[in-house]
Amino acid sequence: MRKEAETMYQKLMTCLESVRKKTDFKPEIALVLGSGLGDFAERIQIEQIIKYTDIEGFPVSTVEGHKGCFVFGYVEKTPVVIMQGRVHYYEGYPMSDVVLPIRLMGLLGAKKLLLTNAAGGANPSFHPGDFMLITDHITTGVPSPLIGPNIDELGTRFPDMSEVYSRRLQAVIRKCAAECGIKLQEGVYVQFTGPNYETPAEIRLAQRWGGDAVGMSTACEAMAARHMGMEVCGISCITNMAAGISKEALNHEEVQETADRVAIYFRKLVEKVVVN
Ligand code: 6GU
Repeated sequence: MRKEAETMYQKLMTCLESVRKKTDFKPEIALVLGSGLGDFAERIQIEQIIKYTDIEGFPVSTVEGHKGCFVFGYVEKTPVVIMQGRVHYYEGYPMSDVVLPIRLMGLLGAKKLLLTNAAGGANPSFHPGDFMLITDHITTGVPSPLIGPNIDELGTRFPDMSEVYSRRLQAVIRKCAAECGIKLQEGVYVQFTGPNYETPAEIRLAQRWGGDAVGMSTACEAMAARHMGMEVCGISCITNMAAGISKEALNHEEVQETADRVAIYFRKLVEKVVVN
């Protein structure tokens, strides 16, 4: 293996050892909570919390309102690890750092990954507060997290992406949403780099590509997880309509407000998905 891959793998191993010095908890499911959706972690039976800053070599987020810790615990009988706050590419980290936490949770034992995010609605039939089951994704301007020497210990050089979001887990999420009485939209998530929101022309582009929601995360994490063979699923909280659809200028406060407003429903849905 070439030097760069070795360095990345070593960084991952350093993080893994650092976590393993603090806990031997073995999660079955890894959860990533998007902005405003983080309070799910406070409702589970918490076994241990590890701050990102206490993990050697771990990338730490700078955005306000993004918490930074792993929460280990149980949802009913299911052991989970929750990433409360993620790092975004727009913060300036190399993509390999952005997906490091995902890889770490995989190495801690998580076989399944549930990704969540706050996203803008590009599909005009969506409404703020809707949930969208992610059926597939597109990236634009975002480099693949797998660029660079392949980390053979994690996965193959040219991983298949024909079913990034597990059809099996998609069916589970549909069933859980129906049982909770939650209307579930479905569609394709388009990851832009951010941190600026898109222009109306970029949103029209996303629509023509077949995109339904736009955001600044998730697709890269899903790719890294698939690379290492995790079973992936994702849910977007449509916090606002994207530029050109929405009459008003977009702002982060609106994103936060909508996410807070629907947090209870979101929690219910995620809880059900985890135990199913
Ligand atoms: Cl409109 N765009 C992006 N990229 N991310 C968002 C968003 C829009 N709304 C919430 N998150």
